[in-house]
Amino acid sequence: MTERAMLISGASGFLGGALYHKAVHLWRVTALCHSKSMPGMLPVDLTDAAKVRTIVRAVKPRVILHLAANANLDSCEKEPQQAHAVNVAATATLLQAADDIGARLVFVSTDMVFDGHQGNYHELDPVAPLSVYGDTKVAAEKRVLAAKGPHVVARAALIYGRPRLGGSSFSEWIEKRLQARQPVTLYNDQFRTPVWVENLADQLLELACNDYCGILHCAGSERIDRLGFGRILCQKAGYDAHLLIPSSMHDHITPAPRPADVSLNVELARQILHTPLLSVEEGISQMTAKA
Ligand SMILES: NC(=O)c1ccc[n+]([C@@H]2O[C@H](COP(=O)([O-])OP(=O)(O)OC[C@H]3O[C@@H](n4cnc5c(N)ncnc54)[C@H](OP(=O)(O)O)[C@@H]3O)[C@@H](O)[C@H]2O)c1
Repeated sequence: MTERAMLISGASGFLGGALYHKAVHLWRVTALCHSKSMPGMLPVDLTDAAKVRTIVRAVKPRVILHLAANANLDSCEKEPQQAHAVNVAATATLLQAADDIGARLVFVSTDMVFDGHQGNYHELDPVAPLSVYGDTKVAAEKRVLAAKGPHVVARAALIYGRPRLGGSSFSEWIEKRLQARQPVTLYNDQFRTPVWVENLADQLLELACNDYCGILHCAGSERIDRLGFGRILCQKAGYDAHLLIPSSMHDHITPAPRPADVSLNVELARQILHTPLLSVEEGISQMTAKA
């Protein structure tokens, strides 16, 4: 194992872009992309198990930050086998490769493992996903938690922010519409604990170095609905809040069902991490100040 070597999967995605930019200052990073060609990154399909094993053996990372996934709920619902191959089988391959060399795997999971009937979920609350995407993440989590190595399941909440490389975010979609002075319909009955992508990247990089094992909820500090989020965004970034149109999630049919309240309890993360868990107001303020 090479002490300062880190392997990042999904580095070409939304979260991956933020993480990669921070990690390169701290680690000797090997970053993986897939369909997008990114300078300095290695293109690999993680469903090619032999190639993944070869890369891990060659890089010998101390830590693998595994972000790559099909993170699109509706696409997973329509193509469950493909979702399983990327989200479960590829995770199992990376996990085995990590165990073979004694590396730590930080697996990024999701708040979508819960059914959303309760909210304020703790790490050990029972999971009950409503969607294929959630099913695949639960299946991958189980494998990570059953493995022998010092691994972590980092359950991320809804991520917002401005993508540095690839990927997209719901807040970017809102901002683009507001900048074009187009109306934005937002649910006022779907609750999450949104986390700013840069804050989540800091949380994950800290987790990469500490010795916590098991599940950890990595989120912002505040439970909020999408409309409430949009209002704070308007206030902090100077957009016209009159363009926001309240709506109910029950009025929209999507291929994958969405849970109503998958807000995450972050008490454990507060105890484990030094990185502050930002409120929506703090995160958006920092995001807009950066621009
Ligand atoms: N976005 C959210 O709100 C949210 C919330 C909770 C949890 N998460 C989790 O956080 C992680 C990152 O999410 P994100 O929003 O950054 O997703 P994203 O922007 O869609 O990025 C997905 C990444 O996975 C890579 N990838 C997809 N299929 C692959 C394959 N077969 N082989 C290798 N790489 C593959 C993509 O590579 P290319 O783009 O190069 O093809 C991309 O780098 C995911 O595990 C997701 O489940 C996201």
